[in-house]
Amino acid sequence: MTGSDNPTWVAGPDYLVAGRYRLRSKLGGGGMGTVWLAHDKTLDRDVAIKQVFSTAGLDIEEAQQLRESAMREGRNAARLSNPHTVSMYDVTLDRGEPWLVMEYLPSCSLAQVLGMTGTLPTDQVAQIGAQVADAMAEAHAGGILHRDIKPGNILIADRGKLAGTVKISDFGISRANGEFVAGDDTMITGTPAYIAPEVARGYDPSEASEVFSLGAALYAALEGQPPFGIDDDAESMMDKAARGEIVPPQHTGPLTDVLLRMLEPDPKRRPTMTVARGALAATIPGAGGSLEYVLNSPLRASDGRIPVWVRRASAGGRRAGVPGGTVGGLPPAPQSVPLDRVPRPQGSGEPLPLWRTTAPVPPRKAASPWERIPLISEIPRDKLVPAAVLAVALIIIVVMIVIMV
Ligand SMILES: Nc1ncnc2c1ncn2[C@@H]1O[C@H](COP(=O)(O)OP(=O)(O)OP(=O)(O)O)[C@@H](O)[C@H]1O
Ligand SMILES: [Mg+2]
Repeated sequence: MTGSDNPTWVAGPDYLVAGRYRLRSKLGGGGMGTVWLAHDKTLDRDVAIKQVFSTAGLDIEEAQQLRESAMREGRNAARLSNPHTVSMYDVTLDRGEPWLVMEYLPSCSLAQVLGMTGTLPTDQVAQIGAQVADAMAEAHAGGILHRDIKPGNILIADRGKLAGTVKISDFGISRANGEFVAGDDTMITGTPAYIAPEVARGYDPSEASEVFSLGAALYAALEGQPPFGIDDDAESMMDKAARGEIVPPQHTGPLTDVLLRMLEPDPKRRPTMTVARGALAATIPGAGGSLEYVLNSPLRASDGRIPVWVRRASAGGRRAGVPGGTVGGLPPAPQSVPLDRVPRPQGSGEPLPLWRTTAPVPPRKAASPWERIPLISEIPRDKLVPAAVLAVALIIIVVMIVIMV
């Protein structure tokens, strides 16, 4: 017996969720369900709605626990009202399945942006970080953890009055999912590429582990890959996270100091979200040290306009292949990896060393347009003669034009 009315049924466009929310179109989908643009009939407004928790395959008791967990996390998230948090409006049941109803933010996620641009300038990354840290500082003050801070959950408004404003979404969702799926407390929630070392080693998430995850997301936005590098295998990624061995950053510029502090393997040595927020904002030269300006202004390029990457993302310039809220090239990693399937590093449980790094990565080479012109040695032998004839003909035409002029 399962807790779901019909485990194989999948909602589609025009479906009316809980008699109130009419599904319009898909906004995207990550590791935990599809996000829909929907219309709230009662309040006559657009909302984003997501069925992240499926009771399919669970027995009645487990299904009920899942519903309660979803409701609890939804209620927690609904207590937050920061300008940099995607508001949670409602948690509702439809056919026995919990759906989350959120503020609709016309936006692109940082993961989508990075899939397109690879990296972002330091001042824009600092402002993204300060705005997310502001939301998180408020959540931490209220005793609420996010549990899955990563580029896929950082949204940047790309249209309308809020264009250029940064908001964090999906508060508590991985907990509601992860804590239940295992049926016990040996689940790790979060995304391996952005997880703090102590969480990868089985300790509970904390305010400090969220500072690490935010640092990891900002590191990825500057370096083009997360601090532990890219690995197809989630378990091996968890192993690297557990060891706390980050790849030394090469492109973090003025953010190097604050990011290294946020990525400290020892959670006790990391700054709080509030301190990180101030330190990130202080690195932005144009802001003149004003935290208020950094938090209240939308992201801007040096010409004062909304950055071109935001406009390109909204114009549909997204590159395919960044599912699951990961940065470009990184495969989607599961939200929850059972602790007993994660290989334990040697000495697990012992205090982590303060700083351990892997071999330095070679500096990136700037791509030059000349590199795209093939050398004669690269032209296939059978194309050499036609290429030479073409070149001679071109030279003759140019010489004749010069003589005639
Ligand atoms: N509140 C929202 N308003 C508008 N668009 C949203 C909203 N929430 C999510 N989206 C869009 O839906 C996409 C998918 O979000 P989703 O949370 O499902 O994926 P993810 O964060 O990449 O993965 P995960 O399932 O692990 O959270 C986002 O990248 C974003 O473009
Ligand atoms: Mg998400």
